[in-house]
Amino acid sequence: MRKNAVLVIDYGSQYTKLILRRIRENHVYSEIIPVNTPVAEIKKMNPSAIILSGGPRSVYDKDSLTIEKEIFEMGIPVLGICYGMQLMAHLLGGKVEPSDTREYGRAMAKFDTSSSLFSGLDEESMVWMSHGDKVLKVPDGFEIIASTEDTEIAAMGNENRKLFAVQFHPEVTHTVFGKKILSNFLFKVAGIRPDWEMDSFVDAKIEEIRKTVGDKKVILGLSGGVDSSVAAALIHKAIGDNLYCIFVDHGLLRKNEGEIVYKTFKEKFGFNLKMVDASKMFLERLKGISDPEEKRKIIGKTFVEVFEKEASAFEDAEFLAQGTLYPDVIESSAHGGTSVTIKTHHNVGGLPEKMNLKLLEPLRDLFKDEVRELGRLLGLPEEIVSRHPFPGPGLAVRIIGEITEEKIKILQEADAIFIDELRNDNLYNDISQAFCVLTPVKTVGVMGDYRTYEYVLALRAVKTDDFMTADWYEMPYPFLKKVSSKIINKVKGINRVVYDITSKPPATVEWE
Ligand code: XMP
Repeated sequence: MRKNAVLVIDYGSQYTKLILRRIRENHVYSEIIPVNTPVAEIKKMNPSAIILSGGPRSVYDKDSLTIEKEIFEMGIPVLGICYGMQLMAHLLGGKVEPSDTREYGRAMAKFDTSSSLFSGLDEESMVWMSHGDKVLKVPDGFEIIASTEDTEIAAMGNENRKLFAVQFHPEVTHTVFGKKILSNFLFKVAGIRPDWEMDSFVDAKIEEIRKTVGDKKVILGLSGGVDSSVAAALIHKAIGDNLYCIFVDHGLLRKNEGEIVYKTFKEKFGFNLKMVDASKMFLERLKGISDPEEKRKIIGKTFVEVFEKEASAFEDAEFLAQGTLYPDVIESSAHGGTSVTIKTHHNVGGLPEKMNLKLLEPLRDLFKDEVRELGRLLGLPEEIVSRHPFPGPGLAVRIIGEITEEKIKILQEADAIFIDELRNDNLYNDISQAFCVLTPVKTVGVMGDYRTYEYVLALRAVKTDDFMTADWYEMPYPFLKKVSSKIINKVKGINRVVYDITSKPPATVEWE
Protein backbone atom coordinates (compact mmCIF):
# COMPACT_ATOMS: atom_id res chain seq x y z
CA MET A 1 0.00 0.00 0.00
CA ARG A 2 1.07 3.59 -0.61
CA LYS A 3 2.74 5.70 2.09
CA ASN A 4 0.74 8.04 4.33
CA ALA A 5 -2.33 5.84 4.31
CA VAL A 6 -4.92 5.18 6.99
CA LEU A 7 -6.64 1.83 7.38
CA VAL A 8 -10.19 1.84 8.67
CA ILE A 9 -11.27 -1.46 10.17
CA ASP A 10 -14.98 -1.85 9.65
CA TYR A 11 -17.03 -3.12 12.57
CA GLY A 12 -20.26 -2.52 10.69
CA SER A 13 -21.26 1.02 11.58
CA GLN A 14 -23.44 2.87 9.12
CA TYR A 15 -20.92 5.71 9.44
CA THR A 16 -17.79 3.79 8.43
CA LYS A 17 -17.64 5.22 4.93
CA LEU A 18 -18.22 8.66 6.33
CA ILE A 19 -14.97 8.22 8.28
CA LEU A 20 -13.29 7.41 4.99
CA ARG A 21 -14.75 10.51 3.40
CA ARG A 22 -13.58 12.77 6.22
CA ILE A 23 -10.05 11.38 5.99
CA ARG A 24 -9.94 11.88 2.24
CA GLU A 25 -11.20 15.43 2.65
CA ASN A 26 -7.93 15.96 4.46
CA HIS A 27 -6.10 14.67 1.35
CA VAL A 28 -5.00 11.56 3.14
CA TYR A 29 -5.46 8.22 1.41
CA SER A 30 -7.63 5.76 3.22
CA GLU A 31 -9.02 2.28 2.73
CA ILE A 32 -11.59 0.23 4.55
CA ILE A 33 -10.54 -3.31 5.40
CA PRO A 34 -12.69 -6.16 6.70
CA VAL A 35 -12.73 -6.94 10.35
CA ASN A 36 -11.10 -10.35 10.12
CA THR A 37 -7.95 -9.14 8.35
CA PRO A 38 -5.02 -10.75 10.23
CA VAL A 39 -2.66 -8.35 11.96
CA ALA A 40 0.26 -9.89 10.07
CA GLU A 41 -1.35 -8.71 6.87
CA ILE A 42 -2.07 -5.27 8.27
CA LYS A 43 1.60 -5.04 9.23
CA LYS A 44 2.57 -5.77 5.64
CA MET A 45 0.38 -2.92 4.44
CA ASN A 46 2.38 -0.62 6.68
CA PRO A 47 -0.33 1.98 7.37
CA SER A 48 0.50 5.32 8.98
CA ALA A 49 -2.53 5.07 11.24
CA ILE A 50 -5.45 2.79 12.00
CA ILE A 51 -9.05 3.62 12.85
CA LEU A 52 -11.38 1.12 14.48
CA SER A 53 -14.90 2.02 13.39
CA GLY A 54 -18.12 1.90 15.34
CA GLY A 55 -20.49 -1.03 15.08
CA PRO A 56 -23.78 -2.33 16.37
CA ARG A 57 -22.45 -5.10 18.61
CA SER A 58 -21.26 -5.39 22.19
CA VAL A 59 -17.80 -6.67 23.10
CA TYR A 60 -19.67 -9.18 25.28
CA ASP A 61 -21.73 -10.66 22.41
CA LYS A 62 -21.04 -14.31 21.61
CA ASP A 63 -20.37 -13.33 18.02
CA SER A 64 -18.56 -10.11 18.96
CA LEU A 65 -16.08 -8.81 16.43
CA THR A 66 -12.59 -8.29 17.71
CA ILE A 67 -8.98 -7.90 16.66
CA GLU A 68 -5.64 -9.33 17.74
CA LYS A 69 -4.27 -7.31 20.65
CA GLU A 70 -0.99 -6.97 18.83
CA ILE A 71 -2.55 -4.20 16.76
CA PHE A 72 -1.91 -1.84 19.69
CA GLU A 73 1.71 -2.87 20.00
CA MET A 74 2.99 -2.07 16.53
CA GLY A 75 3.74 1.57 17.35
CA ILE A 76 1.11 2.68 14.82
CA PRO A 77 -1.33 5.34 16.07
CA VAL A 78 -4.83 3.96 16.58
CA LEU A 79 -8.12 5.81 17.00
CA GLY A 80 -11.11 3.84 18.23
CA ILE A 81 -14.54 5.26 17.52
CA CYS A 82 -17.61 4.12 19.52
CA TYR A 83 -17.45 0.30 19.34
CA GLY A 84 -13.78 0.78 18.44
CA MET A 85 -13.31 2.55 21.78
CA GLN A 86 -15.02 -0.22 23.72
CA LEU A 87 -12.91 -2.80 21.94
CA MET A 88 -9.69 -0.91 22.72
CA ALA A 89 -10.66 -0.56 26.38
CA HIS A 90 -11.73 -4.20 26.64
CA LEU A 91 -8.58 -5.62 25.01
CA LEU A 92 -6.15 -3.41 26.93
CA GLY A 93 -7.52 -4.22 30.39
CA GLY A 94 -10.10 -1.47 30.93
CA LYS A 95 -13.70 -2.17 31.78
CA VAL A 96 -16.74 -1.95 29.55
CA GLU A 97 -20.23 -1.79 31.00
CA PRO A 98 -22.85 -3.69 29.04
CA SER A 99 -26.13 -1.90 28.58
CA ASP A 100 -29.53 -2.56 27.09
CA THR A 101 -30.36 1.07 26.58
CA ARG A 102 -28.91 3.38 23.98
CA GLU A 103 -27.71 6.94 24.28
CA TYR A 104 -28.61 8.51 20.97
CA GLY A 105 -28.36 12.09 19.79
CA ARG A 106 -26.52 15.26 20.70
CA ALA A 107 -24.64 15.66 23.97
CA MET A 108 -22.52 18.48 25.37
CA ALA A 109 -18.94 17.32 25.98
CA LYS A 110 -16.10 18.81 28.00
CA PHE A 111 -12.68 18.30 26.44
CA ASP A 112 -9.17 18.18 27.81
CA THR A 113 -7.64 20.47 25.21
CA SER A 114 -4.11 19.70 26.36
CA SER A 115 -4.53 16.31 24.68
CA SER A 116 -3.12 16.33 21.15
CA LEU A 117 -6.39 14.83 19.87
CA PHE A 118 -8.38 17.80 21.12
CA SER A 119 -5.86 20.55 20.58
CA GLY A 120 -7.48 23.77 19.36
CA LEU A 121 -11.03 22.79 20.38
CA ASP A 122 -13.37 24.85 22.55
CA GLU A 123 -13.44 23.54 26.13
CA GLU A 124 -17.05 22.52 25.61
CA SER A 125 -19.01 21.62 22.49
CA MET A 126 -21.66 19.33 21.05
CA VAL A 127 -20.93 15.73 20.04
CA TRP A 128 -23.07 13.03 18.42
CA MET A 129 -23.66 9.92 20.50
CA SER A 130 -25.03 6.59 19.32
CA HIS A 131 -24.09 3.75 21.64
CA GLY A 132 -25.33 1.21 24.16
CA ASP A 133 -22.31 -0.08 26.12
CA LYS A 134 -19.77 2.32 27.53
CA VAL A 135 -16.31 2.33 29.07
CA LEU A 136 -16.35 2.30 32.89
CA LYS A 137 -12.61 2.18 33.54
CA VAL A 138 -9.79 3.17 31.21
CA PRO A 139 -6.84 0.78 30.70
CA ASP A 140 -3.58 1.46 32.53
CA GLY A 141 -1.63 4.32 31.02
CA PHE A 142 -4.76 5.98 29.61
CA GLU A 143 -6.40 9.19 30.72
CA ILE A 144 -9.95 10.41 30.43
CA ILE A 145 -9.87 13.28 27.93
CA ALA A 146 -13.57 14.06 27.43
CA SER A 147 -16.79 13.65 29.40
CA THR A 148 -20.48 14.30 28.95
CA GLU A 149 -23.20 14.37 31.57
CA ASP A 150 -24.24 10.77 30.84
CA THR A 151 -20.89 9.36 29.85
CA GLU A 152 -17.97 10.14 32.11
CA ILE A 153 -15.47 8.44 29.82
CA ALA A 154 -16.48 9.99 26.50
CA ALA A 155 -12.88 9.82 25.24
CA MET A 156 -9.59 8.36 26.44
CA GLY A 157 -6.02 8.62 25.33
CA ASN A 158 -2.50 7.40 25.87
CA GLU A 159 -0.24 10.10 24.40
CA ASN A 160 2.95 8.04 24.60
CA ARG A 161 1.56 5.07 22.77
CA LYS A 162 -0.50 7.26 20.41
CA LEU A 163 -3.65 5.33 21.23
CA PHE A 164 -6.88 7.33 21.39
CA ALA A 165 -10.56 6.55 21.48
CA VAL A 166 -13.83 8.47 21.44
CA GLN A 167 -17.26 7.22 22.40
CA PHE A 168 -19.00 9.77 20.14
CA HIS A 169 -18.86 10.06 16.36
CA PRO A 170 -16.42 12.72 15.09
CA GLU A 171 -17.25 11.77 11.47
CA VAL A 172 -20.85 12.98 11.81
CA THR A 173 -21.41 16.68 11.14
CA HIS A 174 -23.44 17.14 14.35
CA THR A 175 -20.16 16.75 16.26
CA VAL A 176 -19.17 20.39 16.06
CA PHE A 177 -15.40 19.87 16.20
CA GLY A 178 -15.51 16.45 14.51
CA LYS A 179 -13.44 17.51 11.52
CA LYS A 180 -10.85 19.11 13.74
CA ILE A 181 -10.60 16.00 15.92
CA LEU A 182 -9.99 13.79 12.90
CA SER A 183 -7.43 16.14 11.40
CA ASN A 184 -5.69 16.35 14.78
CA PHE A 185 -5.47 12.56 14.77
CA LEU A 186 -4.08 12.48 11.25
CA PHE A 187 -1.59 15.31 11.52
CA LYS A 188 -0.84 16.00 15.19
CA VAL A 189 -0.98 12.43 16.51
CA ALA A 190 0.07 10.38 13.48
CA GLY A 191 2.17 13.03 11.69
CA ILE A 192 0.81 12.02 8.29
CA ARG A 193 1.69 14.05 5.20
CA PRO A 194 -1.44 14.91 3.18
CA ASP A 195 -0.59 13.78 -0.32
CA TRP A 196 -3.68 12.05 -1.69
CA GLU A 197 -5.35 13.69 -4.66
CA MET A 198 -8.09 12.57 -7.00
CA ASP A 199 -5.59 11.86 -9.78
CA SER A 200 -4.10 9.01 -7.82
CA PHE A 201 -7.60 7.58 -7.44
CA VAL A 202 -8.05 7.81 -11.21
CA ASP A 203 -4.84 5.92 -11.93
CA ALA A 204 -5.66 3.19 -9.43
CA LYS A 205 -9.24 2.82 -10.69
CA ILE A 206 -8.21 2.67 -14.33
CA GLU A 207 -5.76 -0.06 -13.47
CA GLU A 208 -8.44 -1.92 -11.53
CA ILE A 209 -11.02 -1.62 -14.33
CA ARG A 210 -8.51 -2.94 -16.87
CA LYS A 211 -7.70 -5.87 -14.63
CA THR A 212 -11.35 -6.73 -13.97
CA VAL A 213 -12.62 -6.28 -17.50
CA GLY A 214 -9.64 -7.50 -19.53
CA ASP A 215 -10.56 -7.47 -23.22
CA LYS A 216 -14.29 -8.02 -22.58
CA LYS A 217 -17.01 -5.52 -23.46
CA VAL A 218 -18.93 -3.27 -21.09
CA ILE A 219 -22.40 -1.79 -21.55
CA LEU A 220 -23.44 1.40 -19.79
CA GLY A 221 -26.74 3.27 -19.67
CA LEU A 222 -25.79 6.90 -20.14
CA SER A 223 -28.36 9.36 -18.82
CA GLY A 224 -26.49 12.62 -19.12
CA GLY A 225 -26.49 12.96 -15.33
CA VAL A 226 -23.25 13.43 -13.42
CA ASP A 227 -22.90 9.86 -12.15
CA SER A 228 -23.33 7.88 -15.36
CA SER A 229 -21.31 10.48 -17.29
CA VAL A 230 -18.35 10.30 -14.95
CA ALA A 231 -18.53 6.50 -14.78
CA ALA A 232 -18.54 6.41 -18.60
CA ALA A 233 -15.60 8.80 -18.91
CA LEU A 234 -13.57 6.79 -16.40
CA ILE A 235 -14.31 3.43 -17.97
CA HIS A 236 -13.67 4.84 -21.43
CA LYS A 237 -10.28 6.00 -20.29
CA ALA A 238 -9.56 2.47 -19.11
CA ILE A 239 -10.90 0.36 -21.98
CA GLY A 240 -11.72 2.76 -24.84
CA ASP A 241 -13.91 1.30 -27.57
CA ASN A 242 -14.84 -1.76 -25.56
CA LEU A 243 -17.29 0.48 -23.72
CA TYR A 244 -20.74 0.69 -25.31
CA CYS A 245 -23.03 3.42 -24.08
CA ILE A 246 -26.78 3.38 -24.55
CA PHE A 247 -28.83 6.53 -24.11
CA VAL A 248 -32.56 5.92 -23.77
CA ASP A 249 -34.79 8.90 -24.42
CA HIS A 250 -38.04 8.20 -22.59
CA GLY A 251 -39.54 11.46 -23.73
CA LEU A 252 -39.45 12.90 -20.22
CA LEU A 253 -36.06 14.55 -20.32
CA ARG A 254 -35.08 18.16 -19.82
CA LYS A 255 -34.94 20.43 -22.84
CA ASN A 256 -32.01 19.58 -25.17
CA GLU A 257 -30.81 16.80 -22.88
CA GLY A 258 -30.24 14.29 -25.70
CA GLU A 259 -28.40 16.88 -27.73
CA ILE A 260 -25.97 17.71 -24.91
CA VAL A 261 -25.22 14.01 -24.40
CA TYR A 262 -24.70 13.42 -28.12
CA LYS A 263 -22.46 16.45 -28.56
CA THR A 264 -20.34 15.67 -25.53
CA PHE A 265 -19.92 11.94 -25.74
CA LYS A 266 -20.25 11.15 -29.41
CA GLU A 267 -18.85 14.22 -31.11
CA LYS A 268 -16.31 15.43 -28.56
CA PHE A 269 -15.11 12.21 -26.94
CA GLY A 270 -15.90 9.76 -29.75
CA PHE A 271 -17.62 7.17 -27.54
CA ASN A 272 -19.49 4.17 -28.93
CA LEU A 273 -22.90 5.63 -28.20
CA LYS A 274 -26.31 4.44 -29.26
CA MET A 275 -29.14 6.98 -28.98
CA VAL A 276 -32.51 5.28 -28.60
CA ASP A 277 -35.72 7.26 -28.96
CA ALA A 278 -38.32 5.26 -27.07
CA SER A 279 -40.51 8.20 -26.14
CA LYS A 280 -43.57 6.97 -28.05
CA MET A 281 -43.64 3.69 -26.18
CA PHE A 282 -43.22 5.34 -22.77
CA LEU A 283 -45.87 7.98 -23.39
CA GLU A 284 -48.29 5.41 -24.75
CA ARG A 285 -47.95 3.32 -21.59
CA LEU A 286 -48.30 6.35 -19.32
CA LYS A 287 -51.51 7.52 -20.95
CA GLY A 288 -54.26 8.04 -18.39
CA ILE A 289 -51.98 7.21 -15.41
CA SER A 290 -51.83 9.75 -12.61
CA ASP A 291 -50.76 7.72 -9.57
CA PRO A 292 -47.09 8.55 -8.77
CA GLU A 293 -46.00 5.02 -7.84
CA GLU A 294 -47.76 3.60 -10.87
CA LYS A 295 -45.89 6.05 -13.12
CA ARG A 296 -42.54 5.09 -11.60
CA LYS A 297 -43.26 1.40 -12.00
CA ILE A 298 -44.29 1.74 -15.63
CA ILE A 299 -41.20 3.81 -16.42
CA GLY A 300 -38.87 1.47 -14.52
CA LYS A 301 -40.27 -1.61 -16.24
CA THR A 302 -40.32 -0.06 -19.70
CA PHE A 303 -36.80 1.23 -19.23
CA VAL A 304 -35.51 -2.24 -18.39
CA GLU A 305 -37.34 -3.66 -21.39
CA VAL A 306 -35.93 -1.12 -23.83
CA PHE A 307 -32.46 -1.27 -22.35
CA GLU A 308 -32.37 -5.05 -22.41
CA LYS A 309 -33.40 -5.14 -26.04
CA GLU A 310 -30.75 -2.62 -27.03
CA ALA A 311 -28.10 -4.28 -24.92
CA SER A 312 -28.80 -7.72 -26.39
CA ALA A 313 -27.37 -6.39 -29.65
CA PHE A 314 -24.00 -6.48 -27.88
CA GLU A 315 -24.02 -10.23 -27.39
CA ASP A 316 -20.43 -10.47 -26.32
CA ALA A 317 -20.73 -7.94 -23.49
CA GLU A 318 -19.88 -9.33 -20.08
CA PHE A 319 -20.28 -6.32 -17.85
CA LEU A 320 -22.95 -3.77 -17.09
CA ALA A 321 -21.55 -0.53 -15.72
CA GLN A 322 -23.52 1.74 -13.43
CA GLY A 323 -22.73 5.08 -11.85
CA THR A 324 -23.80 3.93 -8.40
CA LEU A 325 -22.47 6.21 -5.67
CA TYR A 326 -21.93 5.50 -2.03
CA PRO A 327 -25.15 7.22 -0.87
CA ASP A 328 -27.14 4.97 -3.27
CA VAL A 329 -25.44 2.01 -1.67
CA ILE A 330 -26.44 2.96 1.87
CA GLU A 331 -29.99 3.89 0.88
CA SER A 332 -30.46 0.48 -0.72
CA SER A 333 -28.55 -1.55 1.85
CA ALA A 334 -29.58 -3.07 5.13
CA HIS A 335 -29.61 0.37 6.78
CA GLY A 336 -32.11 1.82 4.36
CA GLY A 337 -33.77 -1.48 3.55
CA THR A 338 -35.49 -1.81 6.88
CA SER A 339 -37.32 1.49 6.51
CA VAL A 340 -40.60 1.81 4.66
CA THR A 341 -40.59 2.64 0.98
CA ILE A 342 -41.19 6.34 0.56
CA LYS A 343 -40.58 6.24 -3.18
CA THR A 344 -39.43 3.47 -5.45
CA HIS A 345 -35.97 4.34 -6.70
CA HIS A 346 -35.00 2.20 -9.62
CA ASN A 347 -31.42 3.16 -10.25
CA VAL A 348 -29.87 0.51 -8.01
CA GLY A 349 -30.35 -3.16 -8.71
CA GLY A 350 -32.86 -4.77 -11.03
CA LEU A 351 -31.10 -4.64 -14.36
CA PRO A 352 -28.01 -6.82 -13.93
CA GLU A 353 -29.74 -9.85 -12.40
CA LYS A 354 -32.15 -10.00 -15.30
CA MET A 355 -29.49 -9.51 -17.91
CA ASN A 356 -26.99 -11.99 -16.62
CA LEU A 357 -24.17 -9.48 -16.70
CA LYS A 358 -21.50 -8.77 -14.15
CA LEU A 359 -21.83 -5.44 -12.46
CA LEU A 360 -19.12 -2.79 -12.77
CA GLU A 361 -19.54 0.14 -10.39
CA PRO A 362 -16.34 2.18 -10.32
CA LEU A 363 -17.83 5.07 -8.31
CA ARG A 364 -19.28 2.94 -5.53
CA ASP A 365 -16.97 4.32 -2.86
CA LEU A 366 -17.35 7.97 -3.79
CA PHE A 367 -19.54 10.81 -2.68
CA LYS A 368 -21.16 13.25 -5.08
CA ASP A 369 -18.63 16.04 -4.59
CA GLU A 370 -15.77 13.60 -5.18
CA VAL A 371 -17.48 12.40 -8.37
CA ARG A 372 -17.74 15.97 -9.63
CA GLU A 373 -14.06 16.50 -8.92
CA LEU A 374 -13.27 13.31 -10.77
CA GLY A 375 -15.41 14.40 -13.73
CA ARG A 376 -13.49 17.67 -14.02
CA LEU A 377 -10.23 15.79 -13.91
CA LEU A 378 -11.42 13.56 -16.74
CA GLY A 379 -12.18 16.63 -18.85
CA LEU A 380 -15.98 16.57 -18.77
CA PRO A 381 -17.61 19.95 -19.41
CA GLU A 382 -18.78 21.95 -16.39
CA GLU A 383 -22.31 21.85 -17.77
CA ILE A 384 -22.40 18.13 -17.06
CA VAL A 385 -20.17 17.97 -14.01
CA SER A 386 -22.00 20.58 -11.94
CA ARG A 387 -25.46 19.50 -13.00
CA HIS A 388 -28.14 19.10 -10.38
CA PRO A 389 -29.41 15.54 -10.02
CA PHE A 390 -32.32 14.48 -12.20
CA PRO A 391 -34.56 11.58 -11.22
CA GLY A 392 -34.71 8.44 -13.37
CA PRO A 393 -38.44 8.87 -14.15
CA GLY A 394 -37.63 12.43 -15.22
CA LEU A 395 -40.39 14.93 -15.82
CA ALA A 396 -43.01 12.23 -15.16
CA VAL A 397 -42.71 12.97 -11.44
CA ARG A 398 -42.77 16.70 -12.05
CA ILE A 399 -46.00 16.71 -14.01
CA ILE A 400 -48.56 16.13 -11.32
CA GLY A 401 -51.33 13.87 -12.50
CA GLU A 402 -51.70 12.67 -16.04
CA ILE A 403 -48.87 13.22 -18.51
CA THR A 404 -49.50 14.62 -21.98
CA GLU A 405 -47.11 15.74 -24.70
CA GLU A 406 -48.39 19.27 -24.34
CA LYS A 407 -47.62 19.32 -20.61
CA ILE A 408 -44.11 17.94 -21.20
CA LYS A 409 -43.42 20.72 -23.67
CA ILE A 410 -44.71 23.41 -21.28
CA LEU A 411 -42.62 22.06 -18.42
CA GLN A 412 -39.45 21.71 -20.52
CA GLU A 413 -39.69 25.32 -21.66
CA ALA A 414 -40.39 26.72 -18.18
CA ASP A 415 -37.68 24.62 -16.56
CA ALA A 416 -35.08 25.70 -19.13
CA ILE A 417 -35.84 29.36 -18.38
CA PHE A 418 -35.62 28.82 -14.61
CA ILE A 419 -32.30 26.99 -14.85
CA ASP A 420 -30.80 29.45 -17.38
CA GLU A 421 -31.68 32.37 -15.15
CA LEU A 422 -30.20 30.64 -12.10
CA ARG A 423 -26.97 30.18 -14.03
CA ASN A 424 -27.01 33.78 -15.27
CA ASP A 425 -27.39 35.08 -11.72
CA ASN A 426 -24.73 32.72 -10.33
CA LEU A 427 -27.23 31.03 -8.05
CA TYR A 428 -27.12 27.60 -9.70
CA ASN A 429 -24.03 26.28 -7.95
CA ASP A 430 -25.21 27.48 -4.57
CA ILE A 431 -28.34 25.34 -4.90
CA SER A 432 -28.32 21.54 -4.62
CA GLN A 433 -31.29 20.95 -6.87
CA ALA A 434 -33.71 23.26 -8.68
CA PHE A 435 -36.55 22.52 -11.07
CA CYS A 436 -40.08 23.36 -12.07
CA VAL A 437 -43.21 21.36 -11.32
CA LEU A 438 -46.30 21.57 -13.48
CA THR A 439 -49.42 21.30 -11.35
CA PRO A 440 -52.75 20.09 -12.75
CA VAL A 441 -54.41 23.20 -11.29
CA LYS A 442 -55.71 25.82 -13.69
CA THR A 443 -56.44 29.32 -12.50
CA VAL A 444 -57.90 32.47 -14.01
CA GLY A 445 -55.64 35.28 -15.12
CA VAL A 446 -55.67 38.29 -17.34
CA MET A 447 -53.33 39.01 -20.22
CA GLY A 448 -53.85 42.24 -22.17
CA ASP A 449 -57.59 42.46 -22.58
CA TYR A 450 -58.15 38.74 -22.38
CA ARG A 451 -59.13 36.38 -19.61
CA THR A 452 -56.82 33.35 -19.40
CA TYR A 453 -57.38 29.99 -17.75
CA GLU A 454 -54.08 28.16 -17.53
CA TYR A 455 -51.77 26.02 -15.40
CA VAL A 456 -50.02 26.92 -12.15
CA LEU A 457 -46.28 26.27 -12.25
CA ALA A 458 -44.27 25.74 -9.07
CA LEU A 459 -40.57 26.52 -8.70
CA ARG A 460 -38.61 24.29 -6.36
CA ALA A 461 -35.04 24.83 -5.12
CA VAL A 462 -33.37 23.10 -2.20
CA LYS A 463 -30.06 23.03 -0.41
CA THR A 464 -28.86 19.76 1.06
CA ASP A 465 -25.78 17.65 1.78
CA ASP A 466 -27.22 14.22 1.19
CA PHE A 467 -30.81 14.61 -0.11
CA MET A 468 -32.10 12.66 2.87
CA THR A 469 -33.07 15.99 4.41
CA ALA A 470 -33.20 19.33 2.60
CA ASP A 471 -33.99 22.98 3.24
CA TRP A 472 -35.86 25.14 0.77
CA TYR A 473 -33.56 27.71 -0.77
CA GLU A 474 -33.98 31.35 0.26
CA MET A 475 -34.27 32.69 -3.25
CA PRO A 476 -33.74 36.45 -3.64
CA TYR A 477 -37.05 38.25 -4.30
CA PRO A 478 -35.80 40.17 -7.36
CA PHE A 479 -34.84 36.83 -8.92
CA LEU A 480 -38.28 35.35 -8.26
CA LYS A 481 -39.88 38.43 -9.73
CA LYS A 482 -37.77 38.29 -12.86
CA VAL A 483 -38.11 34.58 -13.49
CA SER A 484 -41.84 34.51 -12.84
CA SER A 485 -42.58 37.21 -15.37
CA LYS A 486 -40.19 35.70 -17.91
CA ILE A 487 -41.85 32.29 -17.67
CA ILE A 488 -45.38 33.70 -17.95
CA ASN A 489 -44.43 35.87 -20.91
CA LYS A 490 -42.58 33.16 -22.79
CA VAL A 491 -44.34 29.91 -21.99
CA LYS A 492 -47.81 29.45 -23.36
CA GLY A 493 -49.99 27.46 -21.00
CA ILE A 494 -48.84 28.98 -17.68
CA ASN A 495 -50.40 32.08 -16.14
CA ARG A 496 -49.32 31.76 -12.50
CA VAL A 497 -46.01 30.91 -10.81
CA VAL A 498 -45.56 29.94 -7.14
CA TYR A 499 -42.47 29.13 -5.06
CA ASP A 500 -42.35 26.01 -2.88
CA ILE A 501 -41.27 26.86 0.68
CA THR A 502 -41.37 23.38 2.20
CA SER A 503 -38.36 21.54 3.57
CA LYS A 504 -37.73 17.79 3.61
CA PRO A 505 -39.12 16.44 5.88
CA PRO A 506 -42.07 16.87 5.93
CA ALA A 507 -42.14 17.18 2.12
CA THR A 508 -39.89 15.28 -0.27
CA VAL A 509 -37.72 17.08 -2.79
CA GLU A 510 -39.77 15.95 -5.77
CA TRP A 511 -43.50 16.49 -5.68
CA GLU A 512 -44.30 12.91 -6.61
P1 XMP B 1 -37.04 12.85 -2.81
O1 XMP B 1 -38.13 13.35 -3.71
O2 XMP B 1 -37.15 11.37 -2.51
O3 XMP B 1 -35.72 13.01 -3.66
O4 XMP B 1 -36.87 13.68 -1.60
C1 XMP B 1 -34.41 12.89 -3.19
C2 XMP B 1 -33.48 12.90 -4.39
O5 XMP B 1 -33.70 11.72 -5.17
C3 XMP B 1 -34.09 12.06 -6.49
N1 XMP B 1 -35.11 11.08 -6.89
C4 XMP B 1 -34.89 10.06 -7.75
N2 XMP B 1 -33.79 9.69 -8.43
N3 XMP B 1 -34.97 7.90 -9.40
C5 XMP B 1 -33.85 8.62 -9.27
O6 XMP B 1 -32.87 8.29 -9.92
C6 XMP B 1 -36.11 8.19 -8.75
O7 XMP B 1 -37.12 7.52 -8.90
C7 XMP B 1 -36.06 9.34 -7.89
N4 XMP B 1 -36.99 9.94 -7.07
C8 XMP B 1 -36.37 11.01 -6.49
C9 XMP B 1 -34.63 13.47 -6.40
O8 XMP B 1 -34.54 14.15 -7.64
C10 XMP B 1 -33.73 14.06 -5.34
O9 XMP B 1 -32.48 14.44 -5.90
